[in-house]
Amino acid sequence: MYIASEQRYENMKYNRTGRSGLKLPAISLGWWYTFGGLDVLENGRSIARRAFDLGVTHFDLANNYGPPPGSAEETFGKLLKQDFAPYRDELVISTKAGYDMWPGPYGEWGSRKYLLASLDQSLKRMGLEYVDIFYHHRPDPETPLEETMGALDAAVRQGKALYVGVSNYSPEQTRQAAKTLRELGTPCLIHQPRYSMLDRWVEDGLLDVLEEEGIGCIVFSPLAQGQLTNRYLTGIPDGARASKTERVWLTPDTVKENLPKVIKLNEIAERRGQKLSQMALAWVLRKPQVTSALIGVSSVGQLEDNLIALNNLSFSKEELVTIEKILEV
Ligand SMILES: NC(=O)c1ccc[n+]([C@@H]2O[C@H](COP(=O)([O-])OP(=O)(O)OC[C@H]3O[C@@H](n4cnc5c(N)ncnc54)[C@H](OP(=O)(O)O)[C@@H]3O)[C@@H](O)[C@H]2O)c1
Repeated sequence: MYIASEQRYENMKYNRTGRSGLKLPAISLGWWYTFGGLDVLENGRSIARRAFDLGVTHFDLANNYGPPPGSAEETFGKLLKQDFAPYRDELVISTKAGYDMWPGPYGEWGSRKYLLASLDQSLKRMGLEYVDIFYHHRPDPETPLEETMGALDAAVRQGKALYVGVSNYSPEQTRQAAKTLRELGTPCLIHQPRYSMLDRWVEDGLLDVLEEEGIGCIVFSPLAQGQLTNRYLTGIPDGARASKTERVWLTPDTVKENLPKVIKLNEIAERRGQKLSQMALAWVLRKPQVTSALIGVSSVGQLEDNLIALNNLSFSKEELVTIEKILEV
């Protein structure tokens, strides 16, 4: 039986999400990898327990996380029943819909038909009555934004979500989504974009929009899927994400291409007395608009390592300038 650590709120930092009433841990745990039906359940359980024990109150899921799609939510359902049910009100659970989930025209993108059916399926798999945050996972170029935002608003009105958010929306799409949601009476809580030292698109307008609109920001892949850690400094180890041919989101070519920068960044991290992963997390959190860094981990050790980042989140001007020079090349 799992009993959460009594010290769980002692070291985590909680940041306000935009101008809402909700606070999120500075580091949140993503369930994209590691918690699927093909992964080892006991490893996922140890990670989830340790995360909560260390104050990570936010778990981020999506309908399609697995593989197979849906299985990460099923894993969450099992762990909720066995471990986390007494702590439901201490947890912020999110899910999303937008990517391909089931066959036919109603199994992806942004229609009301898809989003509300998907949320019902997610709740069933997770054994939850409501999620804390329901996201539209990616913009839909064909469905009217009013329909997609109307579906998010309906999820809240039906009591199936407490808050709503968008992911991967451009600055202009975000502004429009925020306006539409505001008119409907359901504010847009949060945006979930990719952001790391190797992918800085959010600095080109999105963060300004989020600040103006009072929307929070939880950034995914802040470690560039493991590239901004010591994982690939001396090659591609067996079992590492870039070695997995069945999932092609991080290729060996990308790892090789970025390695010269990564080696230089690692030297700065060492000078700061930090691991590269810790510096990479501190770096995304330096932006006041960033509420939380949404990490993935494949072991308890990685999780513990990453949370140590919170011990040093500040940068000197010189460090920032040196990092900037490395990233510019
Ligand atoms: N909204 C969206 O469209 C979207 C898209 C992608 C992700 N997300 C969300 O963001 C979450 C995080 O994404 P991500 O997994 O790509 O994030 P990430 O934190 O950039 O990468 C995680 C990977 O980095 C490696 N790693 C982590 N800590 C390490 C450490 N201390 N030392 C060495 N290696 C370490 C592990 O790789 P190994 O497996 O090689 O050990 C781990 O699986 C997802 O779970 C999901 O919730 C959202």
